[in-house]
Amino acid sequence: MIRGVWVVVPAAGRGTRFGSETPKQYLDVAGRPLLAHTLQALFAHPQVSGAVVVVGENDGDWAACDLLVDGKFDGKPVLAAVGGATRAASVLNGVNALPGDVRADDFVLVHDAARPNLGLDDVQKLLDRGREDMVGAILAAPVRDTLKRAGDDGGIDATESRSRLWRAFTPQMFRRLQLTKALEDAGKAGIEVTDEAMAMERLGLRPLLVEGSEDNFKITTPADLARFKFILSQKQDSQRT
Ligand code: C5P
Repeated sequence: MIRGVWVVVPAAGRGTRFGSETPKQYLDVAGRPLLAHTLQALFAHPQVSGAVVVVGENDGDWAACDLLVDGKFDGKPVLAAVGGATRAASVLNGVNALPGDVRADDFVLVHDAARPNLGLDDVQKLLDRGREDMVGAILAAPVRDTLKRAGDDGGIDATESRSRLWRAFTPQMFRRLQLTKALEDAGKAGIEVTDEAMAMERLGLRPLLVEGSEDNFKITTPADLARFKFILSQKQDSQRT
């Protein structure tokens, strides 16, 4: 029997780039906070067993959104952990809060609260490919635009090769103990890793790149939010017809 996987969902950012009072993960989309859409997308996969949501200390928005019924969301257990100053610190707190029956060599997923448009096929692909890899895997997409290096004056200094360059998405999938060690190590070294794979790479490990859908975008700006709302409304329309 395939063992289920738990997910750590970092949701403790204050989202300064988005520019709204309410952190983006709590913004209302079709009557529920964005975070609820993200959990729904994750829990739609039968092999996802539960989630640790990492929220800010004394996060009034988390308390106010009241997503859980008897500690569950869509029938699956959700635990809350308190976030840290950086994304990596938040993820580490989340991994430490995973239930004891998640073993040291079990794979766990880490998925941004701000990526609500994750598809089932992508989760399946990541789980299938990741389980075959010793280290684990991440969803990502090859860079398709031409890359320019800017000078201080905003002029183009150079055109960079895009060959072999990928954009890292989430979920990212690693073994519990290795991920813990990698995040602790980066923290001790004072290096701010911007995703979990970067922490693993620092230890000389080489996670697999699994090509995922561009639809799994991160909500960073109001335009991203509008795009997600549009996609949702289209889905709802097609369900009605
Ligand atoms: O800021 P960015 O969009 O890269 O954040 C990615 C995810 O990490 C978001 O879901 C955000 O809430 C989370 N995060 C966190 N703790 C931090 C910073 C970001 O949980 N200190």
